[in-house]
Amino acid sequence: MKLTRRPRRNRISSEVRNLVRETAVTTDKLVYPLFLIDGENKREEIKSMPGICRFTIDEALKEISECMGLGLRTFILFPAVDDKWKDSTASYSYNPENFYLKAISQIKSRFPEATVVTDVAMDPYNSDGHDGLVRDGKILNDETLEILGKMTIAQAKAGADIVGPSDMMDGRVGYLREVLDEAGFINVGIMAYTAKYASSFYGPFRDALDSAPKAGDKKTYQMDYANKREALVEAELDVFEGADFLMVKPALAYLDIIQLLKQSFDIPIVAYNVSGEYAMVKAAAEKGWLDGDKVMQEILVSIKRAGADIIITYAAKEYAMFLKRQA
Ligand code: PBG
Repeated sequence: MKLTRRPRRNRISSEVRNLVRETAVTTDKLVYPLFLIDGENKREEIKSMPGICRFTIDEALKEISECMGLGLRTFILFPAVDDKWKDSTASYSYNPENFYLKAISQIKSRFPEATVVTDVAMDPYNSDGHDGLVRDGKILNDETLEILGKMTIAQAKAGADIVGPSDMMDGRVGYLREVLDEAGFINVGIMAYTAKYASSFYGPFRDALDSAPKAGDKKTYQMDYANKREALVEAELDVFEGADFLMVKPALAYLDIIQLLKQSFDIPIVAYNVSGEYAMVKAAAEKGWLDGDKVMQEILVSIKRAGADIIITYAAKEYAMFLKRQA
């Protein structure tokens, strides 16, 4: 056969394949979520997320130290709060005694070169389990912003590098930018959960925090997963209001949204590879139905290929270990 174009030539050996490979996921572009609990000397594995634990601060410091050694340096922190601290206004979120705030300070003083991203939303602290303030069964937008503002300032004072509003209230990015600037925190960044969909992939995370809504669902604030153009509305607002990063969440079933935001905006795009996406791979691997490591690597590359600059993933540490073994 006389074939001028033979695409297989560029696949001929692993060296040539490495040479032409278009996408690489590197450790410096990964963010590792850590679940924190109050107390000492404890790590509790989360049943629906094999390999992922809730850590007391001392244990979290050990985990972070290991990650730093692997070149994994960005952490997003979530608190699992005891019921006794939960109330309808999430007041523990800005209580100076809150272990989460203490953890931020301790991490930053022990590892100044680590980047700490926080979670700004009421659900971990809310007796109603919602991301916003509930009154008469409705989620109040503007009243929620004031609480998020207090939470944000408390986190910034504790040393947060970047705050991550995951609540999906309208106007929160602009409001948080304003309160941060007024308090002098002009260098604290905002990683906006821009296109956060009302997804069933969050199940294991809600187990981890015991944060499922007590009544109703999150569909009046999180987006309908059938909608794509609506992500542009959210992204335009977040950019206009001062976001430093735009996030798409979940990731794997939302690659089209990642691609759309990447093509449409010039600030970094973050994809959150969420708990349910992680759990599915782990469950299938435990059954011996899939090669969990290889599938996870393929998923991360696909998210990057779709346009994510940064990936938040529970697989960050194991991926960093894999890269280290290969080096
Ligand atoms: C809520 C929040 C959720 C996640 C992070 N912040 C889930 C929810 O809306 O209940 C999910 C993350 C994951 O599933 O890994 N503020």
